Amino acid sequence: MSDSASDPSILLRRALDQVADTRPAAQIAASVERLITRYRAGGAATAPILRDPVDALAYALYRMPSTYAAVTAALGQASLRWVPAGPGVRTVLDLGGGTGGAAWAATRVWPQARVQVVDQVQGCLDLGRQLAGDDAPISFGSWRLGEALRDPADVVTVSYVLSELTERQQREIVDQALKLARMAVLVIEPGTPDGYARVLGARDRLLAQGWTVVAPCPHQGACPLAGSDWCHFAARVDRSAVHRRLKQGSLGHEDEKFSYVFAVQPGQPVPGDPAPRVIRHPVKRKGLVDLQLCRPDATVGRAVVTKRQGTTYKQARSVSWGDSYTTP
Ligand SMILES: C[S@@+](CC[C@H](N)C(=O)[O-])C[C@H]1O[C@@H](n2cnc3c(N)ncnc32)[C@H](O)[C@@H]1O
Repeated sequence: MSDSASDPSILLRRALDQVADTRPAAQIAASVERLITRYRAGGAATAPILRDPVDALAYALYRMPSTYAAVTAALGQASLRWVPAGPGVRTVLDLGGGTGGAAWAATRVWPQARVQVVDQVQGCLDLGRQLAGDDAPISFGSWRLGEALRDPADVVTVSYVLSELTERQQREIVDQALKLARMAVLVIEPGTPDGYARVLGARDRLLAQGWTVVAPCPHQGACPLAGSDWCHFAARVDRSAVHRRLKQGSLGHEDEKFSYVFAVQPGQPVPGDPAPRVIRHPVKRKGLVDLQLCRPDATVGRAVVTKRQGTTYKQARSVSWGDSYTTP
């Protein structure tokens, strides 16, 4: 674990605090309100949603800690199962990376990696660069979907981007990610039924091209939740004072819900024996744990574990929503 001097979550919070007063508070609040309404409405954008530097700042202040937390959780789960051969993950490309939330997460999970963020909004790239500072292994460049990108990367991330795109563009960005990734791709979206459906579309595309899903699914089959439920997880986000003010919340934290798929190229080493995934908050009562699991045979179901089961019970008590459930 990193100490506080190098812990990206603390550095990100500090960097956001430092830029919070660079625009009038009323302007930022108005922009946050517009963005919340726009993102709730959903639907493909015909023009960039983040229109100017105030929008970029508003987005960074109210969304970046959450996208950072969600991507950190997703990459953390994936890298528990997938350990690349050789020198590991050296380069990451973040398509539609905005102010760099996913890039910060990538540097937390793979501290040795260099991350290239590309986006269509100059205000996001400028702010992202300012937040990351000169010493960060993160660089920012201009790119609009449809433009070719020359340099491949070990891992390509597409974080909270699909919802702004048409279905055709969603296929296009996933295909571009597949083309550019030497090892792995992450697609992550809000943990809503719509976000899950978009992730499922991306997952189908990854599987159709022979990629192996590493997380969250412990199988390569059809999602057993499709049509009746939606697969999603939650990441705890500590709210700073600025974050609390903008979200008009009094709690010191919130839970960011997200859906994701992380898949690797054919030939990447992945242990062939995945454990079931915990797909709901475990219900923990005295002497009993009730788990909802997605299993390696592509079914979902409950596992009720009681104290009489000794070490299995201990293990069941220790798992959280989103974890793999490995029985001793
Ligand atoms: C909701 S933000 C997500 C930002 C960042 N990936 C994150 O997780 O915080 C969506 C980003 O996708 C970018 N984007 C949307 N459509 C794009 C396109 N056609 N070409 C390039 N970037 C695009 C937007 O400019 C915006 O920065």
